[in-house]
Amino acid sequence: MAAKAAYASGVVEMLKEDHAKVKELFEEFESAEGQEQAEIAATAISELEIHAELEEKLIYPAIREAIDDSDMMNEAVEEHHLVHVLIAELKKLKPKDEKFHAKFTVLSELVKHHIEEEEGEMLPEAERHDIDWDALEVAVMKKKETLMAKSSKKPGMKSKSSSKSSRRS
Ligand SMILES: [Fe+2]
Ligand SMILES: [Fe+2]
Repeated sequence: MAAKAAYASGVVEMLKEDHAKVKELFEEFESAEGQEQAEIAATAISELEIHAELEEKLIYPAIREAIDDSDMMNEAVEEHHLVHVLIAELKKLKPKDEKFHAKFTVLSELVKHHIEEEEGEMLPEAERHDIDWDALEVAVMKKKETLMAKSSKKPGMKSKSSSKSSRRS
């Protein structure tokens, strides 16, 4: 069945929840110090990596196919590229390093800008198009679980938040 214009997709809902969570972590980072701040940064990075992977592998391709705006999609992909560059650089630094705070702050500004564009332009546009949201949601949730299980096994990148599987009631 075709997606209706007013249909609030579970995929979009999930993306917005992820966005809200990461923005909250950015705020917490600003007021935290020492070990707690380092843990918040690690959690935000692992959340961002999972979120980016879901968008790059599943969500962006589906949106790109449905809407006719490759400029917008290409720009989003370039922003993801910068996010990955900053994350790779952050991983090489100790959180105590004075560059870490500056780099993490730049990452947070970039991501907040990117979120504004996704929520303000890309996702509303995508929701106006005929995308098989149900099938996409199934694929996204499955991949998310796999990625979360993988990331919780990585040393030093433990998410301090509990599993989000109970989030959708
Ligand atoms: Fe996003
Ligand atoms: Fe994104």
